[in-house]
Amino acid sequence: MNSLQNLRELMRRDRVFEFMLQKTGLEVDLSHGTILYLEDVSVSFDGFKAISDLNLYIDAGELRCIIGPNGAGKTTMMDIITGKTRPDSGSAFFGQNINLLQLSEAQIAQAGIGRKFQKPTVFEFHTVFENLELSMAGDKRVWPTFRARLDGAQQKRIGDVLEIIGLQESRNKYAGSLSHGQKQWLEIGMLLMQNPKLLLVDEPVAGMTHQEMERTAELLTSLAGEHTVVVVEHDMDFVRSIARKVTVLHQGSVLAEGSMDEVQNNRRVVEVYLGE
Ligand SMILES: Nc1ncnc2c1ncn2[C@@H]1O[C@H](COP(=O)(O)OP(=O)(O)OP(=O)(O)O)[C@@H](O)[C@H]1O
Ligand SMILES: [Mg+2]
Repeated sequence: MNSLQNLRELMRRDRVFEFMLQKTGLEVDLSHGTILYLEDVSVSFDGFKAISDLNLYIDAGELRCIIGPNGAGKTTMMDIITGKTRPDSGSAFFGQNINLLQLSEAQIAQAGIGRKFQKPTVFEFHTVFENLELSMAGDKRVWPTFRARLDGAQQKRIGDVLEIIGLQESRNKYAGSLSHGQKQWLEIGMLLMQNPKLLLVDEPVAGMTHQEMERTAELLTSLAGEHTVVVVEHDMDFVRSIARKVTVLHQGSVLAEGSMDEVQNNRRVVEVYLGE
């Protein structure tokens, strides 16, 4: 890996993980049981409405699947939640109290929203254990000092996360030597080190073997409850294996919502998506 790539990776990590160094006082208020509110959200790109009067509510502890055809606005929706894209209108709240539209991307991560992109971005030349340490340290430059003073609770947290993602046996392997699926789990583990309340996962099983998909289903299912998990995925077998409530996006707004059976039997959903 060249130094420019290294630097890019570092910058990205800095942005997403810096809050481990300094927790802000911002605690999400979940007293109404809803962790995410998107109301009347719209955004256009060059006159094209990618998100159109979108209303979406996610309960705390839910595992929600979001499906919909290419270009439906699924990734854009995640970009809005994480502050990467600002909507033209509408509101976005994290719990009762946190107005996401007033926060920077880093502050949103700090407040407890973690995002996993499709392409794993682990540090290939560090071990699995070190990757988890690094994400806890937040900044690779302070890692050596951070590491020297890893306390018992932090050691335990790493051990717990290794167990959750099923990589205990690979803890001393270079991340670069892992399979594609294992890298994805490691990246989920790196997110978990930040203990996010809400996890956004975009197309987690793309490129995975069937076995890896099954393991990923178990992993995401096990995270729900303690965390809230929003999964965007095209693989219908996978969605069926984990789905409780499914939201179908189409042309930037909600076309249907309900159990997998309900949305699968919805005539409009079949027309625009499943019937393809
Ligand atoms: N930054 C951008 N600039 C211009 N157009 C954009 C931008 N981001 C998204 N779009 C457009 O907005 C629409 C929604 O895209 P988005 O990536 O959110 O869809 P998606 O549901 O995630 O699709 P896929 O299933 O293919 O990942 C698409 O037509 C896309 O080309
Ligand atoms: Mg997408």
